[in-house]
Amino acid sequence: MNKIKIRGGRPLRGTVSIGGMKNSALPILFATVITRGVCVIENLPPVGDIEITLNILAAMGARVTRHSPTVVEIDTSDLRQGTAPNALVRCLRGSNYLIGAELARFGQAKVGLSGGCNLGARPIDLHKKGFIALGATVDDTADYISARVDGSLKGTKIVMDNISVGATANMMLAASTADGTTVIENAAHEPHIVDLACFLNACGARVMGAGTSVIKVRGVKELHGCHYTILPDMIETGTYMVAAAVTGGEVTLKNVIPRHLEAVSAKLREMGITVLEDSETITVRSTGRFGSASILAVPYPGFPTDMQPQMTALLTLADGISTVTDNVFNQRFRYIEELRHMGAGISLDEKNSTATVIGVKSLHGASVTALDLRAGAAMVIAGLAAEGETVISDVDNIRRGYVDIVGKLQSLGADIEYVE
Ligand code: EPZ
Repeated sequence: MNKIKIRGGRPLRGTVSIGGMKNSALPILFATVITRGVCVIENLPPVGDIEITLNILAAMGARVTRHSPTVVEIDTSDLRQGTAPNALVRCLRGSNYLIGAELARFGQAKVGLSGGCNLGARPIDLHKKGFIALGATVDDTADYISARVDGSLKGTKIVMDNISVGATANMMLAASTADGTTVIENAAHEPHIVDLACFLNACGARVMGAGTSVIKVRGVKELHGCHYTILPDMIETGTYMVAAAVTGGEVTLKNVIPRHLEAVSAKLREMGITVLEDSETITVRSTGRFGSASILAVPYPGFPTDMQPQMTALLTLADGISTVTDNVFNQRFRYIEELRHMGAGISLDEKNSTATVIGVKSLHGASVTALDLRAGAAMVIAGLAAEGETVISDVDNIRRGYVDIVGKLQSLGADIEYVE
């Protein structure tokens, strides 16, 4: 069932429990390759990307035991280096983490080219540059990235040319068993970088400063297994916050870390939407009328690029004119054409890097496509607010990152279902 049908116009009301963060689980699952033992990971989100990752590890010889949909035990004692199946590797951007993890354990890596959401060019030059700085030689062919080092990687200072979540995480993985200390400057601050540092330290690594621009990794001989719980998904949280806002409802999100959503909450409040917080819940209350805003997507703690499409969908119904610029993925606007099919008044500047959104009174249902994970979430949000029926195709792109989005929205009163 790769389509979703939504009959819009119903305010969402109720409570939703938020799952573990996909983009934190990915580097942590690949990091188990570095340990020679058993890791038990809790609060894993049972979504497409995680299933693929577990299948990659199993195909490499890890013993993967699913204790529940969200608790997995992984024994990588007998893992075979360089055997990740290309057909699975090319499905994920997160596969890049396997390079750093294999280097850290085996001193060599061979991984197929990664894939993932089509957000424009997604080079890995910063990853390769970091591995070379650590003493590895890196070769990439049309099908593989390989890297190797005689003996161990050597701790060094790595200054990232620009802030990259993936490259920061990959340097932490590779440096965890290097000889000496590695200093990563201009590091990403995202909460999932901190989560990865906590996981690595639970496995015996010595990572300090995660969450700031300077991360120090003192290499250790080897890592052991551990028991770890993934942090809540801040982007899943933000997506439901915007869905509540656009439908004029009242929704409480449980098992969240409100501080991780500060930039999103501040923007919604600026638009006149009520956002209440306590230690682990956020409540969004909306009349369905809200003001315009200007959005600039930048690295954490700024407004997250992974919330940019969802926020644009909300702004299509704002009172006034809004602008949206994405400094992380400056071409991340393919979904705008789909919103236009629903009556949105959006135009892109000639460089396609800033969207101007003229608020309209209403959107109308249409047949649209989930072009990628967050673009798909934006279509759901627009469909929930639109008059009439919206059918979204290619919803596997949504299921790769959202646990049971149809069930959760149904529990909030949405008229939404999977259809053939
Ligand atoms: C991660 O992608 C996330 N994906 C993305 O989420 C997220 O949008 C992004 O971080 C930013 O937060 C996963 O975690 C699997 P980057 P990543 O390296 O690591 C450029 C979602 O919807 N860059 O921080 O690939 C890059 O092109 C997905 O869940 C280089 O130039 O992002 C981009 O412009 C989409 N060279 C910027 O840096 C490199 O070697 C930030 O990318 C690496 C990145």
